[in-house]
Amino acid sequence: MYLKKLSLINFKNIPQAEVQLGDGINCFVGDNGAGKTNVVDAVHYLSMGKSAFGMTDGQSIRHGENFYVIDGGYLTDGGRHEQIACSFMRGGGKSLKRNGKAYDRLADHVGLVPVVVVSPSDTMLISDAADERRRYINGFVSQIDRQYLDTLMRYNAVLADRNRFLKMSSDEAMLGVYDSQLAAHGERLHIRRAEIIGQLQPVVAEYYRMLSLDRETVELHYKSELNDAPFGEILERARQKDIVNQFTTSGIHRDDLVFTIGGMPLRKYGSQGQQKSFLIALKLAQYTILADRKGERPILLLDDVCDKLDEQRVEQLIRLVGGDKFGQIIITDCNEPRLRSLFDRAGCGYELFRVENGEIRI
Ligand SMILES: Nc1ncnc2c1ncn2[C@@H]1O[C@H](COP(=O)(O)OP(=O)(O)OP(=O)(O)O)[C@@H](O)[C@H]1O
Ligand SMILES: [Mg+2]
Repeated sequence: MYLKKLSLINFKNIPQAEVQLGDGINCFVGDNGAGKTNVVDAVHYLSMGKSAFGMTDGQSIRHGENFYVIDGGYLTDGGRHEQIACSFMRGGGKSLKRNGKAYDRLADHVGLVPVVVVSPSDTMLISDAADERRRYINGFVSQIDRQYLDTLMRYNAVLADRNRFLKMSSDEAMLGVYDSQLAAHGERLHIRRAEIIGQLQPVVAEYYRMLSLDRETVELHYKSELNDAPFGEILERARQKDIVNQFTTSGIHRDDLVFTIGGMPLRKYGSQGQQKSFLIALKLAQYTILADRKGERPILLLDDVCDKLDEQRVEQLIRLVGGDKFGQIIITDCNEPRLRSLFDRAGCGYELFRVENGEIRI
């Protein structure tokens, strides 16, 4: 799938823009603060209905304005046209439309235009608490499986009810009712997570090997209490503890991903460039699995492509994504000559857009 035309109104620092993109590599270059990452975020909005960087819809409206509009014309790998529009108005809320028709629920859209983002803020996946990694896995799986997001929302609703109940009562019969619902949704989520992460593992290792030119080995593991016992049993065992603590102490909401390099924790023992390489390997692996599952090549967004990588690894990255496994790529960088020489060396064609103070020029 590729984004042919992107139109923006009042999106962050961009008052108005219309860009015709190519189906291969598209580079956005410009100084710090010019608006390159904002373009990346706009493309993410069209796929996921929200910011890739945790900005609220209100924060994404250009200062002093009352609404934003993001509009994208896409061509699928099968040659079908899709028009997606995402807009938000202060006081009026958000609207997401496909070919002019508004969606009832965001979950119905997620996955139609698969997207993978690599950005400097990915380091949160390594440095932050487990909920950041769960958020990542949830976003990933929900692009593959529409039911997943639904099940997750149901799980979270039952979990919130159960926690509220535990604050008021210790009635075990009622807890049993919550448990069976929680276990049913939780088991379903666990199966999906385990399956996708299992698929991810060898591909991440392989991409890392290619990026590092065989210098180090990395691993990724799925940590979940549900790996060892059925969820119903876990809840039963934890019941007294839950009653004392007045919240649900075990379950899928405590899952985590564990990243290692040379068998050691990546957070502690990985250098900045090694951590970055790991994150890129993870995202490229995600891309491969998404492409495979959807039969549609996702859009790859590489924000600040040179961030923390040495020259050799950037070159290796460009060579990897320049191959025909990857479709449309949007790359940002603040150094035009560096980017140009990089592509020339890798022998890839590209389109170049200059971003300056919220304006985009060819
Ligand atoms: N809602 C908004 N209204 C107006 N301007 C905004 C809004 N949100 C962000 N900005 C501005 O957008 C600019 C940042 O744009 P962006 O992050 O896209 O820069 P960039 O080109 O990626 O820079 P860098 O090279 O530093 O990553 C900042 O100047 C910021 O103040
Ligand atoms: Mg940026």
